Amino acid sequence: MSDSGSTFTAPSTRVATEVGNGHDGERAPVPIPTVRIDDPHMQDAARYPRRAEAIIALFFLVGIAGVAAFGGAYVQAAPSWILALTLGIGLFALGIGTTAWGKYLMPQGPFVEERHSLAGSRREQETMAAALVERTGVVVKRRKLLGGMLATGFGIFGVVILFPLLRSLGPLPGSMLFTTDWRRGTHLVDSTGRRIMKDELTVGGILTVYPEGLQNTDRGQAVDQVVLIRAQLTDLVTMQSRADWAPTGYVAYSKVCTHLGCPVGLYERLLELLVCPCHQSMFNIRTGATPVFGPAPRPLPQLPIYIDGKGYIRAQKGFNQPIGPGFWERTTEGNGTA
Ligand code: FES
Repeated sequence: MSDSGSTFTAPSTRVATEVGNGHDGERAPVPIPTVRIDDPHMQDAARYPRRAEAIIALFFLVGIAGVAAFGGAYVQAAPSWILALTLGIGLFALGIGTTAWGKYLMPQGPFVEERHSLAGSRREQETMAAALVERTGVVVKRRKLLGGMLATGFGIFGVVILFPLLRSLGPLPGSMLFTTDWRRGTHLVDSTGRRIMKDELTVGGILTVYPEGLQNTDRGQAVDQVVLIRAQLTDLVTMQSRADWAPTGYVAYSKVCTHLGCPVGLYERLLELLVCPCHQSMFNIRTGATPVFGPAPRPLPQLPIYIDGKGYIRAQKGFNQPIGPGFWERTTEGNGTA
């Protein structure tokens, strides 16, 4: 580091401490800084050092007298206030003297100390790299069997690690992410396969229904499941574009939460909210199951239904958008603004 302005760079001398690259015997001396007593930076800070020294000596004298008096008073079993006074005066005076000594009779610096560079030279770096390569080659190549086995192990591992990508992700989803099994005319049935008729529920009632024939299948009980709710006795319009989707007050929504796919099986009847038990998302059944609380980002897709001539409740068609959590193909239709 360099000396600039009022900073002080201590002169240095060469001493026995040395460093080297340990490779070719070359050594570089490491300077250890020493100081000269006549250096300007080593002079006292006080303008009048002698006067300062005398004053400090006076404090020390008082301090010595104080602590000595404390000792004598203690031996004589003097009253406490005398002990406190003598000790206080003694320590106080010594403290003042010590502080003044440091402030007025010590070099004030600032000091900058040079030190050698810690970085190795280019030659040293190249030598080290060459040594590493050489040693590695020697110690590995002389164990050809082990080296070959290790390489084989890593090679096989590199292939095996691809297996989860190829097999363990399960079957390809196909169109399952986009469509369900609801089709035009599909009957709504309960878990026993019984067809649902228009007088199945009273106002406030709720029932999980499935496409007929699939009520006992994994698929039917997963992506196809629907909650059927009766909100009122007359036709209900959840959105302008869904004028005939909820005849006689029946609304049907996908039961798969649009947050993380839990079954939205709770119904708050007074508030007319479907509630997901996982993270408490709530969906307003009167406005197309738009989320009114919780992390669900989209409404539950609504299944358009109708009542046929015999009084059975059936699907008009499939959902108008993919069910379940959002993904990249999902539209924002039915978000309450349609
Ligand atoms: S899965 Fe329904 S709120 Fe999280």
